[in-house]
Order: sequence, then C-alpha cells, then structure tokens
Amino acid sequence: MGDYDRREKLKEFYLKIKNCKECELSGSRTKFVFGSGSACAQVMFVGEAPGKNEDLQGLPFVGRAGKLLDELLGSIGFDRSDVFIANVLKCRPPGNRDPGIEEINTCKGYLLEQIKIIDPRIICTLGKFSTNLLLNTDKGINTLRGKVFKVDSRSIMPINHPAAVLYAPSRMEILRQDFQKIKRLVDSDSETPACKEDILDLKSETTGDKQSKGEQLGLF
Ligand code: URA
Repeated sequence: MGDYDRREKLKEFYLKIKNCKECELSGSRTKFVFGSGSACAQVMFVGEAPGKNEDLQGLPFVGRAGKLLDELLGSIGFDRSDVFIANVLKCRPPGNRDPGIEEINTCKGYLLEQIKIIDPRIICTLGKFSTNLLLNTDKGINTLRGKVFKVDSRSIMPINHPAAVLYAPSRMEILRQDFQKIKRLVDSDSETPACKEDILDLKSETTGDKQSKGEQLGLF
C-alpha cells in the first residue's frame, strides 16, 4: 500500500471509531485518544491507556511520561511525527486505574487494525499491558524488556513504561539503553539480536489464551 492510501485508510478508520461506545469508558472520557504520528511509520510505540492530560487533549503521551518519551525519541534522532504512538485502550480508565480485561478485549481490535494499516516493521510495547497483549503472554515486563520477538515478520520489543521509570529513576539508564537498541534495530534490516527468543517458547509458557477473544487528522 502506498503512503497516500495508508494515510487515507487510517483517517477513515479514525472517523469510523472516534465515537465508540463499546464500553463504559466512553461515558467518562473527555476525548477518544486514537493515537498520533505517521501512518507510514516504521516504528510504532504502544502504551497502556490515556491518562488525565491525554483524555483532555485527545492525544497520546502528552503528560510527564510523554515528555520523557519525547526526550528518549530525540536521543535516537526521532521526532514523534516520525513514529506512531498508540495505546491498548483508547479511553481513560477513571482515576488512571489499570485497564480491565474486558476493556482490553473490547478495545484490542482497534489497536490490531491500526497495526494492520500502518504495518510497522518494529513495535515497541511500553509496559506490561501492551506487552502481554501483543506477545500473548503473561510474563512480566522485567523478564521481557530489551528482548526482540519476531511476530508476523515484525519485531516486537518490550520496554519499560516511561511512567514507571519516572517512579523508579534507577531504571532510567536501562530505558535509555533500550532506546539505543531500538535505534540499532531500526538501522539494521536483519539484526538477529543475541537475546532473541522464540515466540513459541513464550506462548507455551502462558496460561491459556488471555486474548480470547482532538482532531488528529492532520497528524497522520
Ligand atoms: N500512559 C500511557 O500508557 N499512555 C498515554 O497515552 C499516556 C500515559
């Protein structure tokens, strides 16, 4: 698919889902947070769910964690308009509570469709919720972070969530190093990282199928 078609498709998809009322988070949200960035991005970042600032602005990662994400992107020569940033949930859970399993199952189709349209070569999952969803595992983020998994010919690399690192600054250096690794992955077509695991191993260790089942148009 060409760049123009990809942008149009993503725009069309946004218009289709922006008034979603599939779960009760629609009743408490201020804005639906579709995601932002380039529809033709090679790299996609997937967080957890909008927080207070994101809910108000309708854009992902615009609070403190977003500032850190911007800085980390800058450290590897990226601007947020070079990548696509999305979340597992498109609406804010009240009080920033964790996403519920029902909410994830209701919303995950939107993320999967975004991935299908954008077709990024690399997906960086930020924290446990997006990692567990996209790798279909319930392994902990600290076991998985910094490793690269091949899924459907894409590389999926879990990293710590920037918000978690703000609360545990001792992990900042690890996050910075993981961004350097993202850069190496971007620069290399066929990097086979030493730490590569077989995704099948991961799956066999999971406990069943957990996945059973702002106007942003200018930003694509
Ligand atoms: N945390 C997330 O996971 N996503 C956001 O958009 C903001 C904070």
